Formats: sequence, structure tokens, C-alpha cells
Amino acid sequence: MIKTWSEIYRDSYQEVTNNIKRINGITVGFNTNVDAIYHMRSDAIVDLIHKLGIDSVALYKKVVKWKGSIETPDDYIAGLCGCFEKGRASEWIIQNEETYNYLIENLPVERTLRMGGQAGIMANVLSSLGVPKVIVHTSTLPKELKNLFVKNKNLVLPIHDKNGNITFTHPRKVKKIDDRLFLHIISEIEKGDGIKLGNIKWICPKNNRFIATYDPPNAKLDISLSFSDGITEIATTTDVLILSGFHMLNFKEIGIEGVKERIKSVLNLIQQAKQSNPKLIVHLELSSTKNEKILRELFNLSRKGVYWDSLGCNEVELAEVLNVIGESKLAKSITQEPTQAKFLRGCLKICQKLSLRRLHFHQYGSYFLLTENNYLVPNKKLKQALCYASIITAYKAKTGETKKKIDLEILYDLNRIDSRYTKSFKEIASVLEKEKIIYEEEFLLTGITQYHNYNLIIVPTLVIKKPKYTVGLGDTISSTALTAEITLSFRL
Ligand code: GLC
Repeated sequence: MIKTWSEIYRDSYQEVTNNIKRINGITVGFNTNVDAIYHMRSDAIVDLIHKLGIDSVALYKKVVKWKGSIETPDDYIAGLCGCFEKGRASEWIIQNEETYNYLIENLPVERTLRMGGQAGIMANVLSSLGVPKVIVHTSTLPKELKNLFVKNKNLVLPIHDKNGNITFTHPRKVKKIDDRLFLHIISEIEKGDGIKLGNIKWICPKNNRFIATYDPPNAKLDISLSFSDGITEIATTTDVLILSGFHMLNFKEIGIEGVKERIKSVLNLIQQAKQSNPKLIVHLELSSTKNEKILRELFNLSRKGVYWDSLGCNEVELAEVLNVIGESKLAKSITQEPTQAKFLRGCLKICQKLSLRRLHFHQYGSYFLLTENNYLVPNKKLKQALCYASIITAYKAKTGETKKKIDLEILYDLNRIDSRYTKSFKEIASVLEKEKIIYEEEFLLTGITQYHNYNLIIVPTLVIKKPKYTVGLGDTISSTALTAEITLSFRL
């Protein structure tokens, strides 16, 4: 008899937790930083608008223009208000130090420093879950950042010792790396909060965050010498290489040639890693990239399928990728009027055009996974891996933390997952029936089907109504799903 979703959830959690020690390890690069998280309530936003003397008409125009980069504090306000109005996530690069300093000095004093950057966030999550070895990359290591790395021994940074050999050391114990601190300004916004200003009336439809980043070391995507010198050992002692950080490349500073050169050096490193370990899975974790030229170059240079096996993204990132791989119409239509049918079509296009073995798309209420037909992990296990990722992420959304041993019954009323399917899961099931792929009822029960030569696995996720922070949840989903997949790929 087919298992219910709550049963699958429970089993997945046990199986992955009991077996995670069997995998070799996971490597995560490149961007690690300190996030300064501000809960930006409407009154603080309106105060700042008044302080800057921005009138409502000018603000409205700026929001509509959606510039995508921050030259002045007004631009920050425009990005923040745009995200607030739509409940969407975005990250814009601050173009000068003066504006960065202004924001740091003028935003509300109450803030929390947390581990940030895809690599930093994933490293802490995976280390906390008990992955035997987690290798992380960082360009800087100020003391504030050191202290944010979880204390576990399984978390290491490749570093040259005084004899010039590569050693793997816990980041808290490492001494000599660039110690400059650049805080990423994370403004968390809350569903239901409202801004009223002149004729403007915005109600935030979804919890989300707007990120303003000024981070010159990460903007160069410099790979540490110890990481590149140690790539053979890194590749042979871990199963997955998860990479991210292209979104921060400062185009204005290094120009198109600089961007190409940085991308090529990453691709070179991937090639070396794959030569050392042909089984290594290389995953690209996307992050909202406002400068489309960066993404265009990235995929032009890496298109031929030999670099990326797998890709992880949310709705915004999905549209950004589509836009640069010859699917700009679909990208635009997703941005203007997102639907599940378009998301699915978008995922398929990306898999096909980038010759991916695997694509993981995550959104509120469901995760989609497309894998090539002879993929190394069977569909049933993939479904379990996604459920595991949903549990770890729900716990993080609720508490802000990652914990190895979670009491599922306290975390969530799992019966709800069977009695009330999430909206996006129901919608996608109906899309699949309309497209004559599978009966809606059947898909709601199984979450597995064939879709144009790919395996399609979709699970309804646990939904936490009031997340403590939204930042970093996507990274948590992608990295834990992939880790769980590797764990479950062993014959248990
Ligand atoms: C981006 C941001 C970083 C944040 C991360 C979360 O990398 O630059 O500040 O922590 O996204 O996903």
C-alpha cells in the first residue's frame, strides 16, 4: 500500500539521520560573510523615508523603475519598498562605501549578526547535521565571522601550514586571512505589515527579505590559494561540491573581461576537481543576480554540460536564468504573472538547455526536483530526501537554528500534510493533469511522474507561518536535499 505523506516524512527523517555519517563529505564555496539582520517594520521604513526627504511620488517612480543597484540611500529604500510591496526577495549591490556607511549608521540599532553567504550558511547547517566532513571556503575571516562558525570538528577550512602543505583546520583556529568585515544588510519584512505614505498603500503579502551588499573581497570572487592548491584532496574526500557567489561580482569595478576571467578560473577549478574525482557532483546554488550580464557570461562559458551537474534556485532566480538562456519571454511572463505551469516549463527548459542531471526548484509550499532518466538515485529516495530537507528547513524557519535531533511531533502536526495539501502542490498536480501527464489524484498521493524524459518529483512542504528569519532558508533546502540524496543513495 502506498505510504501517506506523513509516514514518508517520518521515515525519511529517521533514515537520513541514521545514515548521514556514511557519506564522505560536502564542500561549499565560495561566499561566506556576516549578515546583519534588521527586522524592518513599516514605521522604521517610513522614518527613514522622511529622514531622507523622499516624497511618495518619487518613491513610487523609483520602485517601478526597479534599478537593481544601490548608488544612494534612496536606492536602498526603493529596493526595500519594492520587495515589501510584492513580498519578493532580492539582493542589490551597494556601489560605494559612503552609502554603505550611511546605511549602517542610520538603520535601526537593533540587529542580529548571523552567518551569511551560501557557503557559510550551508557549512554551518551541514556540519550541525553531522556530515562527517564539511569543507568551506571564505575570502575573509574577521573575528565576528570566526565566531559565527559552529564549533563542530567536522567543519574545516583548507589552509597552508608553515611548510607550505595544505591542512584542514577549523575556521575558528585559523589566523592569517584578510580580516576586513563587510556586513551584508539584510532587511527582513513581514507579511501583513503596511506602509502608508501619501497615495501609497502597500500591504506586504509574504515574509521575505531585501539584501543590500557592499563586500569588495567577495565581489572579486577571489578563490583562496589554499582552496585551489588543495582541490585534489578536497574533491577526493567529498561527494559534492556546492558553489555560489557569482551574484556579487562587481561588474562596474572589474568590467566584462574581469567577470569572464573570474568565471573561467572557477570553471578551471571544477575541471580539476572532476578529474580528481569523476563521481563528484558539482552543484550551482543560485542567488538573485541583478546584473544579467554576469549570468549570461556564466552560462555562455559553462553551457556544455561538463561543469554543472545540478542547480538550485527559487522563483526569482529561475526567471533570471531563463532570461539569459534564450527564454526571455517565459522569464518575463514568470515575473509578471507567475504560475505553477510556467515554473515547471521553466525548470524543464533550464535542464534541457544547460544539460543538467538535476534541477531543484524551491518555493513556498512545495519543492520540484527534475532529474535525468538514469540518475544515480531512485525516485522514491529522492522524494524522501526532499521531505528531509523540508523538515530541517522548517525547524530552521521556526527557531533560526539547525539541530541534528528534532522532535518531529513538537515541530509540526504532520497529519496536516495529509489532510490539507499546500496550495502550490495542489496547483501543480492539476497542471500535470491538464497537460495529460498524470491524474491529479494520483500525483497528489505519489508526487512522482515522468515529465518529458525527466523524472519529476514534487513534495508538499511543511509551512511555518511566522519564520524567525527568511534569509538562508533556500540554501538550507538545497544543501540538505542534496546531502540527504547522497545519504540515501547508499544501499541501506
Ligand atoms: C546572498 C547574500 C548573503 C546571504 C545569502 C543568503 O549570498 O549575499 O548575505 O546570507 O544570500 O542566501
